[in-house]
Amino acid sequence: MRRALPLLLPLLAILAACEDQSMRQQARYEVYGNAPLFPDHAEARRPPEGTVEVGALARETALREPPSVDAALLERGRQRYDAICTPCHGYTGHGDGMVVQRGFPAPPSYHEDRLRAAPAAYFVDVVTRGYGVMYAYANRVEPRDRWAIAVYIRALQLSQGARVADASDLAEKLP
Ligand code: HEC
Repeated sequence: MRRALPLLLPLLAILAACEDQSMRQQARYEVYGNAPLFPDHAEARRPPEGTVEVGALARETALREPPSVDAALLERGRQRYDAICTPCHGYTGHGDGMVVQRGFPAPPSYHEDRLRAAPAAYFVDVVTRGYGVMYAYANRVEPRDRWAIAVYIRALQLSQGARVADASDLAEKLP
């Protein structure tokens, strides 16, 4: 041990000089803290003016151009509608979903004349921007899915407003 001591002492001195170099130990700004480096002293920086979010242009285009309607789009709309809209609007669109039955404000029925007359683009718009107490779903429902849901709402409207005459029409078309 005696012989080892002269070696051990410089080693200890070297170790003591080592600092924790991790970012946790360095000077830094706290989240949302005061940051004198910037003129407005805000740590949280805004994107420079004119910044375009990745994929924003494609989403804008998809929003403006309705996809062609086929069975696959309708099925996608049903799947998305059932997953996202039914808690409030209900499976048939009468505005009697589960959370409404538990006291959440009731949405209007899709089967009232005003909403029957509304164009599909109106439903897309409500999902994009929200309406009254209903908040926007733009960050949860992609534009193509908004169209798919709008198409499915149209199908729901047809299903609830079917007349006997429509059925006899159908019967004629059956083989
Ligand atoms: C958390 C509950 C909730 C969910 C989920 C919800 N909505 Fe609504 N929605 C409402 C309420 C409440 C209203 C009525 C708002 C008002 O009149 O202030 C409404 C209104 C509407 C209207 C009628 C607007 C008008 O002109 O009267 C449409 C269309 C609509 N929602 C579509 C959708 C679609 C499509 C989805 C799914 C993507 C959806 N909503 C999801 C609660 C919801």
